Amino acid sequence: MINLKFFTLWVLTALCSTRVSSASDSFFLNCGSPENVTVTNRTFESDNNLGREIFDSTRGVSVRTTDSNSLPSGDESTLFETARVFSDESIYRFPIEQHGWFIIRLYFLPFVSASRDLITARFSVSAQNFTLIKDYKPSKTSIVKEYSLNISTDNLSLEFLPKTDSFAFINALEVFRLPENLLPEEAGLIGTQSSKKNLKLSTHAMETVSRVNMGNVSVGRDQDKLWRQWDSDSAYMGEAHFGLPVLNLKAVNFSAGGITDVNAPVYVYGTATRLNSENNPNTNANLTWTFQVEPGFDYFLRFHFCNIIVDPFGFERQISFDIFVNSEKVDSVDMTEVANGTFGAPYFVDAVMRKSKSHEGALNLSIGGVMDVSLYPVSFINGFEVLKLSNDKRSLDVSDAVFPGSSSRNKSSNPRIGLIAGLSAALCVGLVFGVVVFSWCLRKRRSRNRQMQSVHSRGDEQIKQNETGESLIFSSSKIGYRFPLALIKEATDDFDERLVIGVGGFGKVFKGVLRDKTEIAVKRGAPQSRQGLAEFKTEIEMLSQFRHRHLVSLIGYCDENSEMIIVYEYMEKGTLKNHLYDSDNPRLSWKQRLEICVGAARGLHYLHTGSTRAIIHRDVKSANILLDENFMAKVADFGLSKTGPDLDQTHVSTAVKGSFGYLDPEYLTRQQLTEKSDVYSFGVVMLEVLCGRPVIDPSLPREKVNLIEWAMKLVKKGKLEEIIDPFLDGKVKIEELKKYCEITDKCLAQNGTERPTMGDLLWNLEFMLQLQAKDEKAEMVEDDPEASVVGSTLQFSVNGVGDIAGISMSKVFAQMVVREETR
Ligand SMILES: *[C@@H]1O[C@H](CO)[C@@H](O)[C@H](O)[C@H]1NC(C)=O
Ligand SMILES: *[C@@H]1O[C@H](CO)[C@@H](O)[C@H](O)[C@H]1NC(C)=O
Ligand SMILES: *[C@@H]1O[C@H](CO)[C@@H](O)[C@H](O)[C@H]1NC(C)=O
Ligand SMILES: *[C@@H]1O[C@H](CO)[C@@H](O)[C@H](O)[C@H]1NC(C)=O
Ligand SMILES: *[C@@H]1O[C@H](CO)[C@@H](O)[C@H](O)[C@H]1NC(C)=O
Ligand SMILES: *[C@@H]1O[C@H](CO)[C@@H](O)[C@H](O)[C@H]1NC(C)=O
Ligand SMILES: *[C@@H]1O[C@H](CO)[C@@H](O)[C@H](O)[C@H]1NC(C)=O
Ligand SMILES: *[C@@H]1O[C@H](CO)[C@@H](O)[C@H](O)[C@H]1NC(C)=O
Ligand SMILES: *[C@@H]1O[C@H](CO)[C@@H](O)[C@H](O)[C@H]1NC(C)=O
Ligand SMILES: *[C@@H]1O[C@H](CO)[C@@H](O)[C@H](O)[C@H]1NC(C)=O
Repeated sequence: MINLKFFTLWVLTALCSTRVSSASDSFFLNCGSPENVTVTNRTFESDNNLGREIFDSTRGVSVRTTDSNSLPSGDESTLFETARVFSDESIYRFPIEQHGWFIIRLYFLPFVSASRDLITARFSVSAQNFTLIKDYKPSKTSIVKEYSLNISTDNLSLEFLPKTDSFAFINALEVFRLPENLLPEEAGLIGTQSSKKNLKLSTHAMETVSRVNMGNVSVGRDQDKLWRQWDSDSAYMGEAHFGLPVLNLKAVNFSAGGITDVNAPVYVYGTATRLNSENNPNTNANLTWTFQVEPGFDYFLRFHFCNIIVDPFGFERQISFDIFVNSEKVDSVDMTEVANGTFGAPYFVDAVMRKSKSHEGALNLSIGGVMDVSLYPVSFINGFEVLKLSNDKRSLDVSDAVFPGSSSRNKSSNPRIGLIAGLSAALCVGLVFGVVVFSWCLRKRRSRNRQMQSVHSRGDEQIKQNETGESLIFSSSKIGYRFPLALIKEATDDFDERLVIGVGGFGKVFKGVLRDKTEIAVKRGAPQSRQGLAEFKTEIEMLSQFRHRHLVSLIGYCDENSEMIIVYEYMEKGTLKNHLYDSDNPRLSWKQRLEICVGAARGLHYLHTGSTRAIIHRDVKSANILLDENFMAKVADFGLSKTGPDLDQTHVSTAVKGSFGYLDPEYLTRQQLTEKSDVYSFGVVMLEVLCGRPVIDPSLPREKVNLIEWAMKLVKKGKLEEIIDPFLDGKVKIEELKKYCEITDKCLAQNGTERPTMGDLLWNLEFMLQLQAKDEKAEMVEDDPEASVVGSTLQFSVNGVGDIAGISMSKVFAQMVVREETR
């Protein structure tokens, strides 16, 4: 009778076990629970009545939480309500029908039950003699640990081993076979590209450390065929401003390329984080994510890609880029080669990262690297998985970490040898890597350089070669927007002659309108321009470096097809020159003229003092001072700019460049360039502003042709009325005119050292502007605009200037302030 009962029981359990195992090697257990629960297409069965050969349920006790509020939210929460507690070593032994890779998921939530508090548990878990967890001390929150093992035995054993006087527990578990070919047998080691060294994976157990979906959205277990959780990449991203999330599920084409949604779901391949190159295509920026990993282990990495990026511009772009892990190149991805370039074809790259020599646990993933700037690069990544590999101790636990050289340290009495060996090995690897990368860069550069060569030789000044080979024209990556040529053509109606707003030595300037209605000025270097690539380069570098209210802003540039195009903000009122003479523009008031001088002086002052080494503009003239819609002045045209003298030099020797009529005589005769050369040119501009005529006007009688000679002669005679713009006649106070001419005279001093600095000049001009504003107020009160000027004779003696020679201009005006106020 008893025997018979036992027999039926045996039959039942046998049947039971066949049923469980027949579900293609899948086991989902709701541990410690009498109930079955279904969570996203899986039924987690009660482990109470499993066959003895799977699990002897009498070995553990079932517990249930007393505080359902502590359960995590989500579909899986019911799985955490119960647990099975083991006081002795206990084994789940799952029969395996077909060998291959299996996933094991362990669910833990240390809740408080009626009989015990699970947080006090201490235990180890192993599977197939691999230590998965050692001396586990549960953390307060729920956790799902995931492992992958290649099972080539008939049973998969999962063992719980409590510490002495403690216990083990498990809330739920999953064991199921992965589809074939999902995980490779081996993968290439990072840093051994040339020799193609592989690491065999199938002899290791793996633990999922990070599984990330790029594109700033997470993908839940219910959206994945294998119930994998994909976290959003946002928490791992460094410099997030470079990253732009992309979502385009429809683009994913699983029928191209042979990768299915088992590798990663459409929600992973259909989202990505790309380099934000629309706002700032710094062509050489890397996208970087940082992951915490435990040192002392190797890691299996899988990088998922799928080109889902619809190019808003539709121009040719480079969709190849490099993958780096901790600055070591993993691979080059060329999306045009994936499935013959089929749009939306999923693709992945596998690699193994060797254990780091350091005890730091960071894994930096970077996408980008050295790219060809002649195309518009799009770098992106859709997903990333990090799986820790078990080590020689068959362990995945951090307490068993093995560091390179540490085994020899144990044996060797001299720990230094290990260290030195390690260091020199590192050095060798680094050196080889460096050489490989360098020669690769060199090769990549050479082809491009050939193209540029002809342009180089045309330039007056030799372009300094960039040794690192990172960028072809620019050494700095902090350069403004690199415009596609097509976009510029669109903005300027294919360089329509009717849109030309200026012509210079460099080429033509066009007005353009971008799609977002931004107005731009497009300076297009003529291919055979005498000035050339060097100036093009200088200008972009200067403008990128220096941003100031009174310096014209760089919007971008274009060097496609050997074009030399610079895109600036559009300055509605054009050049200062155009408002002084030879145009139909209404004449500027005295106050406007002063404001413009102050603005331009501010811009130049900033150039001279804004950085450690002064920038000398070298081409200050009224045609290079631009006016916006409010007549605010901005200095433009930095093509000739030069960095000022080094500390050990007082000047820069250079071939004379600049514009005739504005050139510092000292610079002309001695080829010595200092900031004071700009001050001289600015003095010339001030004369133009006062007199409203060109610097050189050949149509005038001989003695009047040269503005400086003619005007300064009359200034010294005190005959200001003869030189002043007739439009201003009678509209400016005589004292102000005198002051203005004093300043101008100082600026035009033959000797640079006698000229004021731009700062002094600015101070004086600002002071004059303040006086002017005060006057205007007074005039408004008197309601007689001419009153203060009427009756004054334009008398001015230059002797005063001689008297104050050597005294700082600021001091002179400081005295004048006092006089002004005591008057
Ligand atoms: C759980 O499911 C198994 C198999 O479907 C079944 O044999 C068992 O009776 C179920 N248990 C409960 C409590 O429903
Ligand atoms: C685990 O180790 C034991 C004893 O060393 C051995 O008998 C058993 O075959 C091993 N199991 C596996 C799956 O390697
Ligand atoms: C595997 O399980 C079967 C029963 O399903 C048992 O006969 C066999 O001994 C087990 N093998 C090992 C290595 O535990
Ligand atoms: C699993 O491991 C065995 C033995 O190492 C090997 O023969 C087999 O190919 C591996 N299976 C897979 C899918 O890697
Ligand atoms: C990511 O998404 C969050 C909200 O879901 C948002 O606040 C954040 O700005 C996004 N980050 C990026 C880089 O778009
Ligand atoms: C769950 O089952 C439904 C219906 O069979 C199916 O459409 C869905 O894709 C399944 N979900 C997962 C994650 O397998
Ligand atoms: C998907 O890719 C295949 C193979 O390249 C191609 O024939 C098919 O047209 C693609 N489907 C779509 C919707 O693009
Ligand atoms: C990873 O990046 C961080 C931040 O850029 C840096 O501090 C760290 O040294 C990097 N780690 C490695 C291993 O490269
Ligand atoms: C991107 O990262 C790689 C590896 O660290 C580095 O070699 C490359 O110079 C980086 N590129 C940029 C633009 O920072
Ligand atoms: C790519 O094109 C080649 C030749 O046209 C063809 O043999 C191959 O099957 C194509 N591959 C894919 C993935 O479409």
